[in-house]
Amino acid sequence: MTTDPGRRQYPLLTTRELAAKCGTATTELERRFKPDELLRLNGATNGITPQGVRRFLEGEGVSYRFRVIAHTTMRGGIGKTTSTISTAVRAAQYGFKTCVLDLDPQGSSSMALGAVPAEDDPIFYDIWKQPEELLADALVELGPFLSILPSALENALLDASLLNPGSQKKAVKGVCQQLRIQGFDTVILDCPPSLGIAVISAICAADTVVVPVGSDAFSLKGLDLTLGEIHSICDTFGLPHPAARILYTRYDQREKVSRNALVSIRERYPALPLTVIRTSSEFSKVLAAGETIFSRHAKSGARDDYDRYVSELMGICLEAK
Ligand SMILES: Nc1ncnc2c1ncn2[C@@H]1O[C@H](COP(=O)(O)OP(=O)(O)OP(=O)(O)O)[C@@H](O)[C@H]1O
Ligand SMILES: [Mg+2]
Repeated sequence: MTTDPGRRQYPLLTTRELAAKCGTATTELERRFKPDELLRLNGATNGITPQGVRRFLEGEGVSYRFRVIAHTTMRGGIGKTTSTISTAVRAAQYGFKTCVLDLDPQGSSSMALGAVPAEDDPIFYDIWKQPEELLADALVELGPFLSILPSALENALLDASLLNPGSQKKAVKGVCQQLRIQGFDTVILDCPPSLGIAVISAICAADTVVVPVGSDAFSLKGLDLTLGEIHSICDTFGLPHPAARILYTRYDQREKVSRNALVSIRERYPALPLTVIRTSSEFSKVLAAGETIFSRHAKSGARDDYDRYVSELMGICLEAK
């Protein structure tokens, strides 16, 4: 397994960030942590261990119940992977024991998180039939609260091996259930840009399906088709419908096409929660450095947007308390 977690950094939530979320002064908030939950970062900034954040947020009523979140749309290049890895790193910083399940044969999440499997390392395609025996050894630990089941091209063969509808219904769900048994509370699925069998199986396993969308007509069409498919897949398999959310990525307030697309999505799906992520050159910079937007403490609008998205998704609503 080619991993280089030393190069990639998963730094901590800072006391300043959490204090701002709670509407308290940083010094006051720091008094609520045990000394071994705080770590001095650069300058005068203190970070909080994920265990410490979890203890604190549990005390504030945040639930760490098990959940499976899928990022999927038929449209390619619209932010599924960026959203998967950003969400996973931020969730881990908030104390969720998180596993990324990379189902995309392109393996973009695996690459971005520094976990490209070697030729004979097991991937989802190899382990879905016996997750009890094979999953633990296939996981790559990136940090105490963050792991990944990496992907490789062989996952493209899933469409041929998951022919039986019973297998389609259970394959991803079975692996997620095993992750739960192994102590994870959050599974984040990165899907290929298709509605192939692996994506059908992901939808069957998900509590929440997030559909990223942009301003182009094809991605709006992808949104319609994906939301329609979620309903028909769940009806076909007799499953409850997962919660659906829309994530408008690469939003540019200056562009009329962006503003118009946002209005039209809101009009078309008024009942669905929608989060907007501003466009930012930070994403290409962090990707080139082998990091995510939450590997750095540098402030950016898009980083704030993903933080808000993760807070909504994971039910971290401190201001309302
Ligand atoms: N908010 C954003 N602002 C600017 N660039 C972004 C933003 N979100 C994603 N990108 C960039 O868009 C490109 C495509 O993103 P990403 O790989 O996440 O899409 P994807 O939907 O996973 O693609 P694929 O369908 O190929 O799997 C990447 O270069 C990424 O850095
Ligand atoms: Mg991708």
